[in-house]
Amino acid sequence: MSDPSAHSQTEDLIAPTAGLSGGVRTPSKHDSGPKHVAGEAVYIDDIIEPYGTLHLAPGAATIAHGKITKMDLSKVRTAPGVICVLTADDVPGVNDVSPAHTHDEPVLPDGLVQFYGQPVFCVAAQTRAQARHAAKLAEIEYEELPAVLSVDEALEKQLFVAPPHVMKQGDAASALAKAKHRRSGRMEIGGQDHFYLEGQISFAIPQEDGDVLLHCSTQHPSEVQHNIANVLGRPANAVTVEVRRMGGGFGGKETQASQWAALAAIVAVKTGRPAKFRLDRDDDMIMTGKRHDFIVDYDVGFDDDGRICGLDIQYAANCGFSADLSAAIADRAMFHTDNAYYLGDVEIRSYRCKTNLVSNTAFRGFGGPQGMVAIERIIDEIAMIVGRDPMDVRLANYYGTDDRNTTPYHMVVEDNVLGELTNDILKSSDYCNRRAAITAFNAQSPVLKKGLSVTPVKFGISFTTSFLNQAGALIHVYQDGSVHLNHGGTEMGQGLFIKVAQVVAEEFQIDLDQIKITATNTGKVPNTSATAASSGADMNGMAARDAAMTIKNRLIAFAAEKYGVAETAVRFVPGKIIIGDQAELSFGDIIKQAYLARVSLSATGYYATPKIHYDRDAASGRPFYYFAYGMACSEVLIDTLTGENKVTRVDIIHDVGRSLNPAIDRGQIEGGFIQGMGWLTTEELWWDDGGNLRTHAPSTYKIPACSDRPEDFRMELWASGRNVEKTIHRSKAVGEPPLMLAISVHRAIADAIASVADHKVIPNLNTPATPEAVLYAVADLAKRMIENAGQSVVMAGAGE
Ligand code: MTE
Ligand code: MOS
Repeated sequence: MSDPSAHSQTEDLIAPTAGLSGGVRTPSKHDSGPKHVAGEAVYIDDIIEPYGTLHLAPGAATIAHGKITKMDLSKVRTAPGVICVLTADDVPGVNDVSPAHTHDEPVLPDGLVQFYGQPVFCVAAQTRAQARHAAKLAEIEYEELPAVLSVDEALEKQLFVAPPHVMKQGDAASALAKAKHRRSGRMEIGGQDHFYLEGQISFAIPQEDGDVLLHCSTQHPSEVQHNIANVLGRPANAVTVEVRRMGGGFGGKETQASQWAALAAIVAVKTGRPAKFRLDRDDDMIMTGKRHDFIVDYDVGFDDDGRICGLDIQYAANCGFSADLSAAIADRAMFHTDNAYYLGDVEIRSYRCKTNLVSNTAFRGFGGPQGMVAIERIIDEIAMIVGRDPMDVRLANYYGTDDRNTTPYHMVVEDNVLGELTNDILKSSDYCNRRAAITAFNAQSPVLKKGLSVTPVKFGISFTTSFLNQAGALIHVYQDGSVHLNHGGTEMGQGLFIKVAQVVAEEFQIDLDQIKITATNTGKVPNTSATAASSGADMNGMAARDAAMTIKNRLIAFAAEKYGVAETAVRFVPGKIIIGDQAELSFGDIIKQAYLARVSLSATGYYATPKIHYDRDAASGRPFYYFAYGMACSEVLIDTLTGENKVTRVDIIHDVGRSLNPAIDRGQIEGGFIQGMGWLTTEELWWDDGGNLRTHAPSTYKIPACSDRPEDFRMELWASGRNVEKTIHRSKAVGEPPLMLAISVHRAIADAIASVADHKVIPNLNTPATPEAVLYAVADLAKRMIENAGQSVVMAGAGE
C-alpha cells in the first residue's frame, strides 16, 4: 500500500509548482465561487422538484416539559392539500435519531414534550404553505411538568445528559492553599445560533424496493444514512445520502440534520412520492441546537509575577434535553482550559447539565472557545491584581519548551510556536506604543474609552474520539485523462473540495480544471466521519492523495515496463510524464496507453491519523495530532454612557502551516474571527420564563453585518508556518481555530471598561458583551469603585 504521508517532491514546497495551474499552495478561488455569486450553485432547495413532490412542516409543542394528554389532528388531516400526517406511531423502525445511540432523541416524541417548540407531529402537503398552515390546526392538551431552564437548577437537581468528568494534574487544592495570591470568580458564557444561510433541509426521493435517496444538508452523510436506515427499519444499504454543498454548517449540521431527513424519508417511503423538508428560519432557530452556554466557576493561585501555580475550575454546560454531542463538546472545553498556558496543579470538573431546552450541539470550536474565553479572562484578572501588563502575564504563563510543557491531560506540547508568533504580533501591531497611546487617550476622555488586548490561540487538531480520525476517497481516471474525484468530506463553504482537488492535481501534475469535484455520496465512500474538528482537509486530502498515488504507482510500473526503464526514471512533471530518455507523454496519452494495456484507472484511498491515543477514563494521552496556533490584537472603543462598542483595529497572525490554498485560508481566518466576534459581542439568545426562545429571527438576534467589520483589519498567514507533523503537504487545519482569535475583542472591551476605574477594579464582563452588558459592567464597576474609594488593592468582581 502507498503511504500518503510519505515524503513527496512537494512536501517542502513553499511556492506553487511552476507550470501547474492549481496545485497546492496556489490561491485558487473556491470552485463554486462564481456560482455562489451568480446564484447558480445548486443547493438542495434549488434541485428541480419531480412531479408530485410533497412538502413537510413541523407541528410544535407549546410547553417546555410535560405529557401530551390529547392530540387531535383531525383538522390538520382534512386541511387543504394535506396528504399525510405523521406522529410517533408512524415511525416504522426505531424512533431515535440520537447521534451516539443514546436513544434520547425521538424523531417525534411518544407523549413526552421536552422543550418548547419540540416537533410533536409533522404534516406533508402538496405545497409548503399548505403544510405550514395545516400544522397550526392541531388541538393538543398537556399535563405540564416542572421545567428546568437554567444550568444552576440542573446542577442543584443533579440532572445530567452524561456523567460528570474530571481531568487533573498534580494536587490543585494544596497548590491553591500555598499560593501567594488567589482569585476566584464566576463567568457566564452565552450560546450562539449557527445562522447558516441555508437552513436545515432534506429531500427524499423514493427508490425501488422501499429504498431512499436523500439529498441532505449535512456535515455527516454517513450518520444520516445509518440513522435513517434505523428509523425506517432497513439496512444501511437501503439508504443513500448525497451532499453536493451546504450553505454553511458551522457544526449545526453535524448531528442535527437527521430528524428532518428521517421525517422526509418516512413520508417518501409511505407515499411513494418525493418529500422535501425545509425548515423555516424561525423554526430552524427554535427547533435545532446551538452552541452550549456555560457557567464557569474558578479559583486560581499565582505568584507576584502573575504566574499560575494552581487552578480549580468547574464547567457547567447547558446541554438541553438530550446528550447529542455534549459529552465530547464539554470535554473539548476541558481540553482548552489551558489555551496556551501551563497551569501547574490543576483540577478541571465538568457537568453536562440536562435542561428543558433544545439540545445544544457542535459549533465551530466545539466547546474549545468556552474553555479559552474563561482562561483569558482569568489571565486578565491576574494581571490587574499583580499590576502587570496582561501581555507580560500571558508570556509568563506560556507553555515552556523543555519544562512546564505538559497539559492537564498529560500531553506534552511539542510544537509550540507561540513565542515566535507573539514576537511577530507585538511588532506588527506596534502593541507597546499603542498601549501607551491608549492610556493617554483614556486619561483625557471621560466618556469614550479605548481598550486593547492581545490573545493567543492554541487549538488541538483531531477528533478527541480517536476512532473518528479516519477518511476515505475514490478516484477514477477516464480514458481521456479527465479525473473524477470523490471523498467523504463535505463542502460547507470552507473550501474543502478545492483543497482536496489541488492535492490531486499536484499528485498527478495536471491542471485543476482536469479534475471534476463531485458530491459527497455514501454510495461512493462509506463509513465516513463528520466533516468537523477542522480535520476535513487533513484527512480527506491524505485519503485522496493515497488514491491518486495508487493510480500513479500503477502508471509508473506500466510505463517502466513498457519502455524498459527503471521505475525511478519515470517522473510526473506539469502536464506530462517523462519516461527516462525513452518518451515524454501527456497525461492523457499515458492514460490511454494504460487503459489499452488493461491497467486499472480507479482506486480508493484511505487515511487514519497517526500518533493519537487517549484514555478517557484516566483523562490522559495524546488526543491531538498537533496544535494550530494564532495571535490576535484587537482595539476597541466603548461609549460608557450607552454601552455601544466598536472594533477599531484588529491585527491577526495565524499559523496554517504551509498553506494548501492561501486564499481559502485567509477567508477562513476572516470569517472565523468575525463569527467569533459576533458570538462575544452582539449575538444574544433569550428565552422567556416558559422556555420559549424569543430571539428566533434576525430581527431580534444580531449577527455581525459588513459594517461591524473592524475599521482597520490586518491579517497575515504566518510566514514561518510549517507543521512539524507529516500532515498533507505540511499544512494545518484552519476551520475552527480563528474563531477564538475573537476572544481578543472581548478582552479589549473588558480592558476599556477597566480603564474607567484606572484598572484598579476588576470588571465583571460576561459574554456576549452587548451594549447592555457593557453598560451594566461599567455601572457595576463605578459603584464598586466608589464603595471602595481609598483602598489601594484591586477590587474583586461580582459573583464570587
Ligand atoms: N466555513 C464556512 N464557510 N462554512 C462553514 O460551515 N464550518 C466550520 C469551518 N469553516 C464552516 C466553515 C467548522 S465548524 C468546521 S469544523 C470546519 O469548517 C469544517 O471543515 P474543514 O474540516 O474542512 O475545515
Ligand atoms: Mo465543526 S463545530 O467541528 O463542525
